[in-house]
Amino acid sequence: MSEEKKHNKLTTASGRIYVENENSKTVGPRGPILLEDYILHEKMAHFNRERIPERIVHAKGSGAFGTFTVTEDISQYTRAKVFNKIGKKTKVFLRFSTVGGEKGSADTERDPRGFAIKFYTEDGNWDLVGNNTPVFFIKDPKKFSDFIHTQKRDPYTNCKSPTMVWDYWSLTPESLHQVLILMSDRGTPVGFRHMNGYGSHTFSMINAKNEKVFVKYHFKTAQGIKNFTDEEAAQMKSKDLDFAQRDLLEAIDNGDFPKWNMKIQVMTTDQAKKVDFNPFDLTKVWPHSEFPLVDVGVLELNKNPDNYFQDVEQSAFAPAHLVDGLGYSPDKMLQGRLLSYPDAHRYRLGGNYEQIPVNRCPYAVNNYERDGMMRVDGNGGKKPNYWPNSFDDIVVDKQYEEPSEQLEDTIADWYDRNSKVGDNDHYSQPRALFRDVMSKEEQDNTINNTIGAMSGISGPKREVIINRQLCHWFRMDEEFGMRIAKGLGVDINAVMASSAGSH
Ligand code: NDP
Ligand code: HEM
Repeated sequence: MSEEKKHNKLTTASGRIYVENENSKTVGPRGPILLEDYILHEKMAHFNRERIPERIVHAKGSGAFGTFTVTEDISQYTRAKVFNKIGKKTKVFLRFSTVGGEKGSADTERDPRGFAIKFYTEDGNWDLVGNNTPVFFIKDPKKFSDFIHTQKRDPYTNCKSPTMVWDYWSLTPESLHQVLILMSDRGTPVGFRHMNGYGSHTFSMINAKNEKVFVKYHFKTAQGIKNFTDEEAAQMKSKDLDFAQRDLLEAIDNGDFPKWNMKIQVMTTDQAKKVDFNPFDLTKVWPHSEFPLVDVGVLELNKNPDNYFQDVEQSAFAPAHLVDGLGYSPDKMLQGRLLSYPDAHRYRLGGNYEQIPVNRCPYAVNNYERDGMMRVDGNGGKKPNYWPNSFDDIVVDKQYEEPSEQLEDTIADWYDRNSKVGDNDHYSQPRALFRDVMSKEEQDNTINNTIGAMSGISGPKREVIINRQLCHWFRMDEEFGMRIAKGLGVDINAVMASSAGSH
């Protein structure tokens, strides 16, 4: 192709220089308009295509570029090049988000926050697609679409429905841990800079000797945790829907670069067989006392994207995107997500979504995938489009081979039928959070926030749903249950009687 000639004249998308950008071509000054006014067609047609489907979840978000710097040597756990030298810097892109709201929804809604990081490593892009909480509402991906429907709009009223939300949670006891965190003031963080991020799932790392450990990722905010109370969040919602976007953008524009300290928890494969909880259960944390945090590095955001749509809206993260030295785990939720995200991107952005600049690996991409809509990377040029072949020099490098693993177990829909006792303890960890970790003020706020949220339950099943959820709160902590019941004006004796017969 000939070299692009730059000029500063107004043009169509095909480069035709034109003059009239505000008045259509008409028969006489009063019209009608001629069909041949192609510039008018192009402007209207392109405008009609400006919106792409919004993400089915996490639609409202903000993003920025930055740098990850290694501060500690963790080569005993992983051979991943991103971690291979103290002082090593890797470019990142991070997108924060709320979960349930549409693209125009308020940044201060009570909701988990997404914390999705793309590390542009020399061995390919690594996406860590986490949240600001260490756990999640469910532990099996088969439940995800049902769960998310309850967070969206009621099919009849087209309004958000606390009745659907609490109906589902009360019927899904494994949600309790995440629901408690959501009801605490951490459910309404002050923007994105003052919250932690978590990989949440259990992942694995593989070192140069092909030895594997399991890990959890933590990103502790260096700005300190800051949350809105329920009232403050509501006030901010009426004042500035885009508070978190503005806060992040302005901080970075002003050179006040937000940072997070990256840490990992490490569990050996032997320990994973022995711990008295399921280490691959996304509704559980690994206690710090048994699995202490290990320092790894610092993540800093230091550059706002020049164009929101180009980089933030078109960014696409996938938990499946790992690099050598990092691995998955048997966590069922993670396994489900490996499939779901690239599928979502192919629908939202098209089959060649990985060629969009923010998603593109800046290092080598060598494969035999060709063609498809919006193929803009040269499509492999004249090179062969099949493998193996006798013509190109693309090789397989055996040093990247992963250790093989042996699996042996019974195939079944395991969870309800056969799960081990510990897997169904939905109460001990939220109890520890409420009793041992939260301050008195946090406890009081969590209780008030929960009463406020549960007050929205309405309709003929109101009492059933409230009582069912109260049973979970009582099992977690009696005082918590009593205070929620009192706040909702519920007769405790009736709840106790109904609880006697339930699971
Ligand atoms: P620790 O006392 O060692 O850790 C407690 C953790 O809780 C800290 O990481 C702290 O994070 C975090 N925390 C404090 N307040 C809240 C809140 N309102 N909502 C959510 N997290 C909060 O205890 P354990 O490791 O034994 O865990 C006890 C309980 O703490 C767990 O059952 C779990 O509910 C919660 N927790 C545990 C985490 C883990 O990975 N072990 C991670 C986060 C929560 P920070 O330093 O940011 O204040
Ligand atoms: C976004 C599916 C669980 C964090 C998404 C998207 C889908 C999805 C389809 C939209 C992707 C897009 O259009 O770009 C699922 C499924 C899950 C699940 C099927 C469970 C089986 C989780 C969990 C976390 C999480 C457990 C966090 C620990 C995120 C984040 C985004 C997202 C942060 C937004 C990414 C971005 O900023 O573009 N999820 N999700 N999800 N999900 Fe999940």
